[in-house]
Amino acid sequence: MTPEPQAPDARSDDPLANKAQAWSALFSEPMSALVQRYTASVGFDKRLAAADIAGSLAHARMLARQAVITAGDLADIERGMAQIQAEIAAGRFEWQLALEDVHLNIEARLTALVGDAGKRLHTGRSRNDQVATDVRLWLRGEIDQLAPLLADMQRALVELAAQHAHTVMPGFTHLQVAQPVSLAHHLLAYVEMFARDAERLADVRRRTNRLPLGAAALAGTSYPLDRESVATELGFDGVCQNSLDAVSDRDFAIEFCAFAAITMVHVSRLAEELVLWMSQNFGFIDLADRYCTGSSIMPQKRNPDVAELARGKSARVIGHLQALLVLMKGQPLTYNKDNQEDKEPLFDTVDTLAATLRIMAEMVSGIVVKPQALRAAVTRGHATATDLADYLVKKGLPFRDAHETVAHAVRLAIEQGVDLAALPLATLQGLHPAVGEDVFEVLTPEGSMAARKVLGGTAPEQVLAQVARHRGRLVKV
Ligand code: ARG
Repeated sequence: MTPEPQAPDARSDDPLANKAQAWSALFSEPMSALVQRYTASVGFDKRLAAADIAGSLAHARMLARQAVITAGDLADIERGMAQIQAEIAAGRFEWQLALEDVHLNIEARLTALVGDAGKRLHTGRSRNDQVATDVRLWLRGEIDQLAPLLADMQRALVELAAQHAHTVMPGFTHLQVAQPVSLAHHLLAYVEMFARDAERLADVRRRTNRLPLGAAALAGTSYPLDRESVATELGFDGVCQNSLDAVSDRDFAIEFCAFAAITMVHVSRLAEELVLWMSQNFGFIDLADRYCTGSSIMPQKRNPDVAELARGKSARVIGHLQALLVLMKGQPLTYNKDNQEDKEPLFDTVDTLAATLRIMAEMVSGIVVKPQALRAAVTRGHATATDLADYLVKKGLPFRDAHETVAHAVRLAIEQGVDLAALPLATLQGLHPAVGEDVFEVLTPEGSMAARKVLGGTAPEQVLAQVARHRGRLVKV
């Protein structure tokens, strides 16, 4: 555990704890304690420490290569940073609120450890390009950990689907029974959604992975920096090409939150279906006990809390996207302190999404399917009415007439209290003489499904081909 930042102490005789002195001799009085608390971000942005140190080391090495600092200075900086890294890892680093943020905390500690070399680190750099670099580096690392979680989520769905290409269930529109589909087909719809999310994530990564460092405060710097070499050392794909944009752009964070919000909407829709499917009135599935909770008053209850929470947590992620959009919309170029407010929404978006994907993938793998309930549901809504119409069209009727004939058939079925598929042949023939014994091949849910062989349709052979495609695409490397 990292100790919490210490509260500002006005009587401190540590010069680094006095922000007035951290700025310059221009300030005639120390910052008020309230302002210190209000402006400080170290409580949350210390999470960027590893990125901050990596960025500083790459900057320092480049400064030495460009002879802006000496090899001796660089050696001091590397030694100091190694110690700081160790202190942070051991939870011994003393974060100071008076030093505002992660950047000033680390720099102050470096200077305390190695003296003047620490003070030279900030040559040709500003916290404006520094923080933009840190956030990008950090987010890139998080993206690289989220991508496999998205793949796991897809794999869980694909493997469940692989077992249910022949399991019929009602496909719904307007939440009314529409046509028979396989459970596999239904599950693979979510795989398509998460596959698009993965594409969006890869796309966000490309635009995140650009180096702002070298933009300095906003205008660039007069030191002979080699930005490209810093980008290469830090694994960036390139450098930001306009210094003003480099320090003020947070599009990458907004895009990331948009990706996350869309992904969470997909998770939420899936979660909603699991909740419905598990309710007694659907009874399509069971969720493993380890993902359910009981009630303190109703002994019979097993509640799908995890699915409900996943659905609920989509709200906060959508909110974070909104927050970042509003945060940016009124900002004139270039850096404004408003941007400090980008971190908590971004951090929480990453944490919420990662935790949600992890638990949902696990829960999906543990779903117990009840095929009889699914099949019974499909025989309760005249789900093969379209198939009967298509059958009549194949016998020569115009589609509109076939549609009308089937409407009469459904009406009869409702009157007799049976599903369309259960009407006797004579009744159907009474509606139209073209109906033959072969009508029952298309009136069963299985017949209906098998007929939808079109690419992307619910026929088992199509669905199994999709399972194979997804498996190939999702092979673990
Ligand atoms: N903590 C600040 C942030 O998160 C760092 C940059 C501050 N720069 C400045 N000029 N005040 O945005």
